[in-house]
Amino acid sequence: MRVMGIETSCDETAVAIVEAPPGAKPVGRILADVVYSQLTEHRRFGGVVPEVAARAHLERLDGLIADALSEARLDFADLDGIAATGGPGLIGGVMVGVMMAKAIAFAHERPFLAVNHLEGHALSVRLTAEVSFPYLLLLVSGGHCQLLTVQGPGRFRRLGTTVDDAVGECFDKTAKLLGLGFPGGPAVERAALDGDPDRFSLPRPMWRKPGCDFSFSGLKTAIRQTAEKLPANDRQAVADLCASFQRTVGDVLVDRCANALALASAPTLVVAGGVAANAYLRTRLEALAVAHGMRLVAPPVKLCTDNGAMIAWAGLERLRLGRTDTLDFRPRPRWPLDTVGQSAA
Ligand code: KG4
Ligand code: ZN
Repeated sequence: MRVMGIETSCDETAVAIVEAPPGAKPVGRILADVVYSQLTEHRRFGGVVPEVAARAHLERLDGLIADALSEARLDFADLDGIAATGGPGLIGGVMVGVMMAKAIAFAHERPFLAVNHLEGHALSVRLTAEVSFPYLLLLVSGGHCQLLTVQGPGRFRRLGTTVDDAVGECFDKTAKLLGLGFPGGPAVERAALDGDPDRFSLPRPMWRKPGCDFSFSGLKTAIRQTAEKLPANDRQAVADLCASFQRTVGDVLVDRCANALALASAPTLVVAGGVAANAYLRTRLEALAVAHGMRLVAPPVKLCTDNGAMIAWAGLERLRLGRTDTLDFRPRPRWPLDTVGQSAA
């Protein structure tokens, strides 16, 4: 079974083809994976501009689809389904991907699959590792920060979410305030390597409170106030603040996950989404999992940030269950994950 996945919900135009070999291991194989990152388009604005993103997706997408097919040495006729991110995300971009996938599905008489972007992140771990349901998922990206139990494709129970900002956004803001550029996560992680995590004491919102919700706006404010007082051109101070920030985020994520582990019994803790690329945070979460007799599984770094393979894989998991979508599916700017199992129309 082979599925093409198209991802256009933010600032990466991505196309991939994945395959689940029949009867073989329960993991998949990536036959093609191409990404056009719109970094240069958005860098001068210091963030993603929706209209610019939609136009860039439109310009690049057909070329990337041709590239993916030639990388996999396949034709449309060799595919069993066409998946695209159907939401949530910047609606102009989502529309570009959905319209393209529908057109291919219609022209080549293949099933169309509208994939929830968050479900893409949530299931991506099963593309490369043997992870069975149920598992506990920490989903940390630029737009989301949630704890969920994953019982199967389309079967999610949300245990907690952020009451204000997402953790990735907090990384991006920190990087911007400290002049480290965009996107912020990798820049903060790099700077933190040379920093002293004990130098700055920062607030840990929600820490040691009951439940599994998150809050990051207080931490963001504290970073701004601390950054404003730093002497100019003090690279060590910047590194120390990044290290202190990262450690604070680690403390909060571990504390919230510990509460979730007490609520939901599962043998595996999975971390996914762009922030899951962070090696320091992975180490912290791994220590927590081990302390609870569990294992931590995270997708390979390349599959943590937005990509087409996770959309193709989630589409494939849905296709296996016969959950295809009709061509009247409407792109959704908002689409909470715990409603995914319900009708996608
Ligand atoms: O999943 P993703 O690519 O897009 C969304 O669905 O939001 O996540 C992007 C987010 C950005 O906020 C980026 O700064 C963050 O993931 N990120 C990281 C790292 N790499 C990407 N955050 C911390 N450490 C990283 N190494
Ligand atoms: Zn994402």
